[in-house]
Amino acid sequence: KQKIILDVDTGVDDAMAIAYAVAAPNADLVGVVNSYGNVLVEQAAKNSLEILDLLGATDVPVFEGEPHSLETDSFEVMEVSAHIHGVNGVGEVELPASSRQVEEQSGVDFIIEAAHKYGKDLTIIPTGPLTNLALALRKDPSIADLIGNVTLMGGALTVPGNVSDAAEANINQDATAANEVFRSPLHDTMVGLDVTLRTLLTKKETQQWRDLGTVAGEKFADIVDYYIDIYAEMYPHLGGCSLHDPLAVGVACDPSFVQTLDLDLLVHTGELNYGRTTGDTAHLDDPNPTASVAIQVDEKRYLKTFMEYLNYLFAN
Ligand code: BDR
Ligand code: CA
Repeated sequence: KQKIILDVDTGVDDAMAIAYAVAAPNADLVGVVNSYGNVLVEQAAKNSLEILDLLGATDVPVFEGEPHSLETDSFEVMEVSAHIHGVNGVGEVELPASSRQVEEQSGVDFIIEAAHKYGKDLTIIPTGPLTNLALALRKDPSIADLIGNVTLMGGALTVPGNVSDAAEANINQDATAANEVFRSPLHDTMVGLDVTLRTLLTKKETQQWRDLGTVAGEKFADIVDYYIDIYAEMYPHLGGCSLHDPLAVGVACDPSFVQTLDLDLLVHTGELNYGRTTGDTAHLDDPNPTASVAIQVDEKRYLKTFMEYLNYLFAN
C-alpha cells in the first residue's frame, strides 16, 4: 500500500478527498495536514478531524500547517470561498464534534519526518495552497529527493483559471510557494482545472448516499448538495459540481485515470499573470522534466470508482 499524506483546506471537495483516501484499498492515509484557503487553518483542521471521525478513521492524525502564504503575514478567507463552501467550509452542515485534538507537531515538521520515514513510498496530495510543502522544502531540501511523488489539485495549463483568467484558487493563494515546489527536484503530478472541471457530481449521486440511511451518507449528501446548488448558480453550464480535490486522490491511487503531458512547470509570481501555471521555456528540452500535467481524464471510469468507494465507506 502506498503511504499518503493529504494537505487540505477542508472545504467541501477536500472533505470528499478525505473520504476517497480513507476508502481507497491501495492507500494508507498516514496523516492529514491542514492549510488555510477555503477557511482559516484552525477551521480546516476542525473540519478534517470531524470528517475523519464521521468516517470511522479515528486513528488518522491531524496536523495544523501554516496560517497564511509565504508572501503575507495575515490571511482572510475570500468572499467567494465562503460562498462556495459555506462559512464553516462544509456547506453550513453541523458535524458531530470530535473528541480528538490536533497533534502538537506542526504540519510542516510532520511532512519532513514522513519523507524520511517512508521515502519513495510516500505520496503527498496537496488540495489547498502549497505553502506547507514549500516551507518543508525550505527547512529540509533533502526531502525533494526522498518523496515518491506529489499529486496536487491546482493550476490550469490548457484552460483559464477560476479566480482570475490566469490563476486557479490553490495556486493563487501562494504563487511563490507553488513556484518553489515546481522548481524543486520533487516530481509533481498536476491535477488542475484542465481535468477537474470535466469531472462532475450531481444530486443523482448524492441521493445514493442519502438512501444508505447512515449518518455519514446523510451528512455527506447535505454537505455536497450545498456545493452542487452553488455550482448550479455560478456555473450553470457545467451541470454538476467539480470533483477537484477527490480527483487528485484518485490520480495518486490510479494514475491511469488521466493522460499527462510531461514538462517543467513554473508559476508566475509577478502582478501580471499572477498565479498562472505554464511550461518553463528555459527547460523545454529537458529529458527528465519534473512534472506531469493531467490534460485528459476518463471521467466516467473515475466517477464509477469514486461512487463505489464512497458508497461502501458510507454504508459501513
Ligand atoms: C480548489 O480551490 C478550492 O476552493 C477547492 O477546495 C479546490 O481545492 C479548486 O480551484
Ligand atoms: Ca481544496
